Amino acid sequence: MSSDAASLELRELVKRYPGTDEPAVDKLSLEVPAGEVCVLVGPSGCGKTTAMRMVNRMIEITDGDILLDGSSVTDRSPAELRREIGYVIQQIGLFPHRTIGDNIATVPRLLGWDKQRVSDRVDELLELIGLDAEMRERYPAQLSGGQRQRVGVARALAGDPPLMLMDEPFGAIDPINRERLQNEFLRLQAELRKTIVFVTHDIDEAIKMGDKIAVLRKGGKLAQFASPAELLMYPADPFVEDFVGADRALKRLALQRVRDIDLWKGVLCHKGESTAKVRARLADADLEFPLLVDDEGRPLGWLSDRGLAGERVMEDLRSRAEPTVEMDDILRDALSDLLANQTMYGPVLDDQGRVQGILSLRAIAGALNIRPEDVPDSAELAAEASSSP
Ligand SMILES: Nc1ncnc2c1ncn2[C@@H]1O[C@H](COP(=O)(O)OP(=O)(O)OP(=O)(O)O)[C@@H](O)[C@H]1O
Ligand SMILES: [Mg+2]
Repeated sequence: MSSDAASLELRELVKRYPGTDEPAVDKLSLEVPAGEVCVLVGPSGCGKTTAMRMVNRMIEITDGDILLDGSSVTDRSPAELRREIGYVIQQIGLFPHRTIGDNIATVPRLLGWDKQRVSDRVDELLELIGLDAEMRERYPAQLSGGQRQRVGVARALAGDPPLMLMDEPFGAIDPINRERLQNEFLRLQAELRKTIVFVTHDIDEAIKMGDKIAVLRKGGKLAQFASPAELLMYPADPFVEDFVGADRALKRLALQRVRDIDLWKGVLCHKGESTAKVRARLADADLEFPLLVDDEGRPLGWLSDRGLAGERVMEDLRSRAEPTVEMDDILRDALSDLLANQTMYGPVLDDQGRVQGILSLRAIAGALNIRPEDVPDSAELAAEASSSP
């Protein structure tokens, strides 16, 4: 259903508002390949909205150029651009006296689609954004803020635009719904692969949503244009460093999944198995004690010394195997689980619940290039674990 995404290029873009000395946007150059999300981020008044609105000519360009698929937007009429470019803004985007269905149908009607096609498209989009078909006849005031925002996104997508402009689309939503909308948006984008310019002043949102992030400083100057990981690892100057925050190492954890890092091997054992063999396996393992698993390979708990004392493994646990994490978990969330359970490691499970490896604090630290000596070693961990219930 998706038409091709367009590439976007800002070339030495300048905006000087009449009667002002300083430009609002100053020689801004950046390229967004087709199908990518470019986030514009920066403090209030740094020119984000101005830069974005020049793309669909809601604001006229003072100098420089904007190219859509290689051709200048100045060669197109503003009306044409607005039909072709999806636009989502915070809160007030919807027409209050039109139903949700009519709101979503705005652009398809402007494009002259026949009635049936428009109607089918509205149904398709309601399903895509996860709203019941009955919402179609309601008015914006009869929806929650989060639902209205979803409708705003649906309306912008309706004409299947090759480019979407989103100006703080989730800015007015409470944190929980905001996170949900962000996740839905990412899921949609993985499917639709639109080219998107996304404005926010929230660096965490920028890191989460962007393929590339353009950090602007006052006066609409580009401070850095980089991928989220690059921005966090190598902020270009003190302004960017300050803007991304002192916790930038932790923020990087939000960009990685458990499957992305080198997991510890760990030693798995079964009840009744020869303890000599288990001890032999432990000799070159990362952890000092084995994880008891059932016949399916699902974790039962960390084996105690007593469980390993006899000839055969006995089901005697030093602690349960909590928490468990999954390969696809965000590393930050997995770390949070470990910390919440006051443990330094947890089994990593596949989708059948079978153990694939062990996530440990040291493995996470390794992924962040924290010096290993700053993290307690496995002997300390072992002491810790055996003293915990
Ligand atoms: N119509 C206008 N006339 C004159 N100056 C304007 C106009 N619109 C915006 N400005 C100024 O241009 C600068 C950039 O404004 P813009 O709205 O692009 O900032 P922003 O980065 O989107 O800020 P925010 O995060 O608060 O939305 C600001 O200093 C603003 O005061
Ligand atoms: Mg703005």
